[in-house]
Amino acid sequence: MPDFAPFRARRAALLERMGAGIAIIPTAPERIRNRDSDYPYRFDSYFYYLTGFPEPEAALALIAGAEPKAILFCREKHPERELWEGFRYGPAAAREAFGFDDAHAFAALDETAPKLLADQPALYYAPGLDPAWDARCMRWLNEVRAQARTGVAAPGEIRDVRVALDEMRLVKDAHEIATMRRAASISADAHVRAMRATRPGAMEYEIEAELLYEFRRRGAQFPAYWPIVAGGANACVLHYRDNSQRLADGDLLLIDAGCELDGYAADITRTFPVNGVFSGPQRALYELVLAAQAAAIAQVRPGSGWNAPHDAAVKVLAQGFLDLELCSGTLDEVLEKELYKQYYMHRTGHWLGLDVHDAGDYKARGEWRPLVPGMTLTVEPGCYVRPADGVPERFWNIGVRIEDDVLVTDAGSEVVTADAPKRIDDIEALMRAAPRA
Ligand code: GLY
Ligand code: MN
Ligand code: MN
Repeated sequence: MPDFAPFRARRAALLERMGAGIAIIPTAPERIRNRDSDYPYRFDSYFYYLTGFPEPEAALALIAGAEPKAILFCREKHPERELWEGFRYGPAAAREAFGFDDAHAFAALDETAPKLLADQPALYYAPGLDPAWDARCMRWLNEVRAQARTGVAAPGEIRDVRVALDEMRLVKDAHEIATMRRAASISADAHVRAMRATRPGAMEYEIEAELLYEFRRRGAQFPAYWPIVAGGANACVLHYRDNSQRLADGDLLLIDAGCELDGYAADITRTFPVNGVFSGPQRALYELVLAAQAAAIAQVRPGSGWNAPHDAAVKVLAQGFLDLELCSGTLDEVLEKELYKQYYMHRTGHWLGLDVHDAGDYKARGEWRPLVPGMTLTVEPGCYVRPADGVPERFWNIGVRIEDDVLVTDAGSEVVTADAPKRIDDIEALMRAAPRA
């Protein structure tokens, strides 16, 4: 029996934010990969956040007001389909197991929704997310309007339910934090496994297989995004995903990989030498990125603005680029003219949660959001040196990123992915101790 208490508490919180009106939140559709084969099914994050219900063809209706109500629409029991595809709860069992006030067949949604919408002041849904749902909601509204002469009124307001939900999802509750810690721990162990398996001559995809194996072996349902396993110059392709090349002695390997466990993502990057020992130039850039990351993590605490970690990382990187003669001029020039962007062109992090780039605004009323306990974010500075005139050749084709997942706590922050080694001594010791094929 699933523990539905955290999901019911989130529904109650959303109903309170709505005040009045009805919200309709569907889950994601199944998607065909080719002919009779579907992509592995993944629920919609908003729907799952509020229900914990994992099946496709489902929607949640929430009615706010003096007598708030949560109604699930889901697939009916179907012995023949269950024989082919597996168990379905059906409305009666789903209502019981997931703590809804009521449940109906999904097939009854179009007939039932106009009745539920009647006389509600507002309809909350996610306008523009899916044209089919836009059309569906408009059809329901028109059906209610068509009954005006019987005395019912259609909702006068359409509101985006994501505004409230995104705010709620920004601050994780205890149930979410516990799940994210487990996702982080599995993902950190997968990085350790990958480090131990790496050796000159291995293919990038062999290392990808080690990551996926550890995720799945530990019960994670999916990778949270496709792993990046990028040897040598491939590390300078920010979204490299071919994972098809042979790993060369003397190169670095950049791995960006995290699992999704019970809906929640981890997102870790580690960069380490294929042969287990950093060269001088690799060490110089690695230590610089690690220092930038430490400076950024030091800024993660309640009250810090969202951008403080990024600013701190950029400052350290800019000074390092000057010291290593990757940039010239003064620190102010490198910062003001954004010369550092030649080597560091992305931002230092993003919200993390049900989505790897999680829901939630980064600014509120024009100001970077202050961090509060319960927020989770990545801190992921990097440095990517492509061959170019004037760029010292010893750094060419070195790409480094170090990414951890950080929880904002009352006292400051906690790096939940700390089990994946990142100090040079620790990485080299781990790789020395790994069995060599
Ligand atoms: N792995 C995606 C990211 O780091 O943002
Ligand atoms: Mn990330
Ligand atoms: Mn990442």
